[in-house]
Amino acid sequence: MKGIILAGGTGSRLHPLSLAISKQLMPVYDKPMIYYPLATLMSAGIREILIITTPQDHQLFRNLLGDGTQLGCRFDYATQEAPRGIADAFRIGRDFIGGDKVALILGDNIFYGSGLSELLKANTDPDGAIIYGYHVTNPSRYGVVNLAADGRVESIEEKPANPKSNYAIPGIYFYDNDVVSYAADLAPSRRGELEITDINKAYLQDGKLRVSILDRGTAWLDTGTFESLMQASQFVQVIEQRQGLKIGSIEETAYKMGFIGAEQLRSLAEPLRKSGYGEYLLQLIPDA
Ligand code: DAU
Repeated sequence: MKGIILAGGTGSRLHPLSLAISKQLMPVYDKPMIYYPLATLMSAGIREILIITTPQDHQLFRNLLGDGTQLGCRFDYATQEAPRGIADAFRIGRDFIGGDKVALILGDNIFYGSGLSELLKANTDPDGAIIYGYHVTNPSRYGVVNLAADGRVESIEEKPANPKSNYAIPGIYFYDNDVVSYAADLAPSRRGELEITDINKAYLQDGKLRVSILDRGTAWLDTGTFESLMQASQFVQVIEQRQGLKIGSIEETAYKMGFIGAEQLRSLAEPLRKSGYGEYLLQLIPDA
């Protein structure tokens, strides 16, 4: 399975913070935001990843992440000229996806929880689409899924004024190759965007949508507003300081997943020692 990180958009809800620099490059405590969704895809075993950015931010992402070989991965880059909607990712990524299945993660979504990488790994070969549901207090801000008592999907709606459930749809989606043709046929919504919710509705109509509920032991944070960005940083700081373990470290994930060995981890860690981040990576190596 291939992966796409969608990291474009205007970030208008973070202006003036995001006037001159992409939101997804901003710090979430001790790492750039994009590290978190990237580590999430990597922890599902996905190594071929397309990073979609705005044209003006493209070079900065390349400077940060390179071609991925340093992490035992392959990163490709593409640009989105205007924020035409989340489902545009499958039009932009058509050649990259080729005949494969693909996971999409939004560049401003952070996931953390025990058993999460096992759950995601188990969903990397979908027959149809697999999306998730997550209980939130304010579902109207999100895509919302309503399930019947027997688990059947009754409805999916984008930012409904009167949501039928408290289950928001987080920004991580797993699709078979049909997503490319669903996206090609999609018409823009009333707000003028190619909606990911319309892709999911198309799969639902064809009886090929599965929804998996993320349990309350999983943290899902988005980072689109001043409050949620601050809260995400605070969450990461509290857990990291308490546990002495990092959330969203791409170097640690590459090592733990067996994408790179101890020598490569050591060479990634050396230039980062002054901040303490490199020291953290070094102590992951036995007898370091
Ligand atoms: O966070 C999950 C929610 O993300 C889902 O529950 C919704 O169904 C989905 O529509 C989306 O809602 P948002 O209103 O949060 O999407 P937003 O426009 O903020 O975009 C999310 C990320 O995708 C953000 O990091 C910017 C990026 N993006 C967005 C659009 C529309 C792009 O790179 N290009 C785009 O054209």
